[in-house]
Amino acid sequence: MFKLLLVSALVAVGLCQYSVPVHGHNDTNSTSTFTNPILDTGGADPWVFRHGGHYYMTYSNNENITLYKSDVLTDWNNAESKLIFKPEKGFNYSTDIWAPEIHNLNGNWYVIFTADPRGDSPPPEVEMWCEYNCPAVHHRMFVVEGEGDDPWEAEWKYKAELDTYDQFAIDGTYFQHKDQLYHIYSCWHRKYDGWPANLCITRMSNPWTVSSPFSERQIISVPEYAWEKTPFGRASNDRLASNEGPQQLTNPTTGQTFVIYSAARSDNRNYCLAQLELVGDDPMNPGDWRKHPFPIFYQNPGESAYGVGHASFTISPDQSQDWIVYHGMQDPTDGWYARTIRAQKFGWNDDGTPNFPKPGYGPYEVPSGQK
Ligand SMILES: *[C@@H]1O[C@H](CO)[C@@H](O)[C@H](O)[C@H]1NC(C)=O
Ligand SMILES: *[C@@H]1O[C@H](CO)[C@@H](O)[C@H](O)[C@H]1NC(C)=O
Ligand SMILES: *[C@@H]1O[C@H](CO)[C@@H](O)[C@H](O)[C@H]1NC(C)=O
Ligand SMILES: *[C@@H]1O[C@H](CO)[C@@H](O)[C@H](O)[C@H]1NC(C)=O
Repeated sequence: MFKLLLVSALVAVGLCQYSVPVHGHNDTNSTSTFTNPILDTGGADPWVFRHGGHYYMTYSNNENITLYKSDVLTDWNNAESKLIFKPEKGFNYSTDIWAPEIHNLNGNWYVIFTADPRGDSPPPEVEMWCEYNCPAVHHRMFVVEGEGDDPWEAEWKYKAELDTYDQFAIDGTYFQHKDQLYHIYSCWHRKYDGWPANLCITRMSNPWTVSSPFSERQIISVPEYAWEKTPFGRASNDRLASNEGPQQLTNPTTGQTFVIYSAARSDNRNYCLAQLELVGDDPMNPGDWRKHPFPIFYQNPGESAYGVGHASFTISPDQSQDWIVYHGMQDPTDGWYARTIRAQKFGWNDDGTPNFPKPGYGPYEVPSGQK
């Protein structure tokens, strides 16, 4: 989630106080190492993919969808950029453009993104239905299509809203299993819940059309553990409890399928990554998903890396390594404005689950094959 208006002031309350070390920039000019962040200006909700020998990135900027292109994964400060979509005023997708993701499906490119009309400030007669503050009540998912093989040269145009039954929807992603396409997104159980934000799944008949009727929509994850809620550890509190930012991740060796999602709350130190594994054969059956009982990538106070989440996954130039690109905070007291974009290599555990490193700043070795 990129930004919510009208959220009551929230002071991040950690379990422990740590001194905040200043991370040392490595000022050797070695091309064999890099440091985080990989973009000096702030950024959130990064989506990175590799295509035709280049890396491409997009991230939340509220106003438009801008695509960046770089030969290296680890430095985006001088990346080329290209506007691929800027909404006109007056539509349901005109403001708060969040979490764009670009997928290659059926030979074309699809940007799936969150947006809302007019900064989503519901009038009191709408907000009064909500159990908690719910200024995000009009957030929905939309699709922009880019025709052509090359994302840099594609012709981009608005395609459709994704049906979420006129209910809150953010951070939607495509999920593929056995030739069937699904939409997985952050949802409320009912239209005016406000919280918690869960993960929902519906079937799609193509990248811009949801085919499930409302009765078929399934909730595959709710914030149930203390670490999925905020304030951290207050298990009874659903306000601010979020599951969002889902991403499909497949183990290239075993074929195991995961949804890595973000839990807790995006504006403070406790935001983290969590894991669902598809252990059955039907993604539409909540019982076919197994949630890992602990976060799998989370704050590292020893290196002043907090609020790490909303990840995407890519590979090294020689395809031998898996990389995670995510956002995090060095100063967790600065909320959403503290977020910067980072990259690290990750591996796999013996049981086939992803093995993420501790988040930090490096220096780390650059991706294998990077020149
Ligand atoms: C900077 O990176 C180089 C190359 O990896 C390493 O040898 C050196 O120790 C690093 N310096 C610091 C201050 O971390
Ligand atoms: C690194 O490169 C910059 C710009 O080329 C230069 O100003 C700086 O002195 C170099 N630093 C080191 C440690 O070589
Ligand atoms: C897209 O939005 C960003 C962030 O607000 C802004 O800096 C940039 O100028 C916009 N690009 C265009 C072409 O309007
Ligand atoms: C815009 O959103 C409102 C409220 O959800 C909905 O009733 C309306 O049909 C939407 N407009 C379009 C053109 O889809």
